[in-house]
Amino acid sequence: MKVLSDLDECRAWAGDRTAPRPRVLVPTMGALHEGHLSLVDLARERAGDDGEVVATIFVNPAQFAPHEDFDRYPRRLEADLALLEGRGCDLVFTPERPAMYAPDASVSIVETAIASGLEGASRPQFFPGVCTVVAKLFHLTQPDAAVFGEKDYQQLAVIRRMVRDLDFPIEIIGGPIVREPDGLAMSSRNAYLGDDERAQAVVLSQSLAEARESIQQGLVEVPTLLSRVEERIASQPLARIDYVAGVHPDTLEPIDAIAEDGLLIALAVFFGKTRLIDNLCWRRNVAGAG
Ligand code: PAJ
Repeated sequence: MKVLSDLDECRAWAGDRTAPRPRVLVPTMGALHEGHLSLVDLARERAGDDGEVVATIFVNPAQFAPHEDFDRYPRRLEADLALLEGRGCDLVFTPERPAMYAPDASVSIVETAIASGLEGASRPQFFPGVCTVVAKLFHLTQPDAAVFGEKDYQQLAVIRRMVRDLDFPIEIIGGPIVREPDGLAMSSRNAYLGDDERAQAVVLSQSLAEARESIQQGLVEVPTLLSRVEERIASQPLARIDYVAGVHPDTLEPIDAIAEDGLLIALAVFFGKTRLIDNLCWRRNVAGAG
């Protein structure tokens, strides 16, 4: 497995017209877990025997607000590289922060529809930071396809829209949420949780699983579903809800009744200082959706 951190070296490698194709990219911020590695597996599948799997590791300062966890975000490059190599990744690009952003960088990409609610409402700097860095990583690595997780459902939707609207010739592939055995969605931020917080955080996936059951039993009123989810989460004393929302799974606009296309329930909840997100995407007529 090749490891590059220099931007010029990355450009030279990416521009080689004789390089194996398709090239499939998995962008990450490192501190890798099975959720990330499942995306590498999908990339490997899409790339096939002839293609190439590329991962990037970059903790992107532009998507963190000053009060957020950029400084303490877990960084463990050596362990990450070993995990990626074990999953058949061919190349890792791990740029340094100063090389990625000029001190007076002044251009960013802003998506104005899908990004406005949910995470975008709670973290206004987040999607411009994500779109800008992902566009830069696309330019630098020139992939044919890129894989993103449904754990960050809104991020996946925003990237799809950016690629469509800015004509990136890149196929975007979504990967399902990978969970711990008790149901907690895997996240690099789970490492911040104290024992009690970790024990109570399982309520997030439980509340969503119960919502799925209610939907399957015929409940269609979204406000009722959401208040059940909220009540269930609030039963845990360490949980502090940021938002619990029911939106259309494509437009991400709030809806009151389950749409023809289904429903996305998305939530963000603090346990102490740690902010966790999770979601349930329920699609009509799709077996095992979500
Ligand atoms: P990061 O949080 O490291 O996540 C990298 C990718 O892994 C994202 O596509 C995310 O959705 C996916 N992922 C994380 N946890 C997952 C889980 N439990 N199951 C499935 N997929 C999971 O998302 C980012 O980094 C950044 O915003 C990035 C896109 C790299 C831009 O900086």
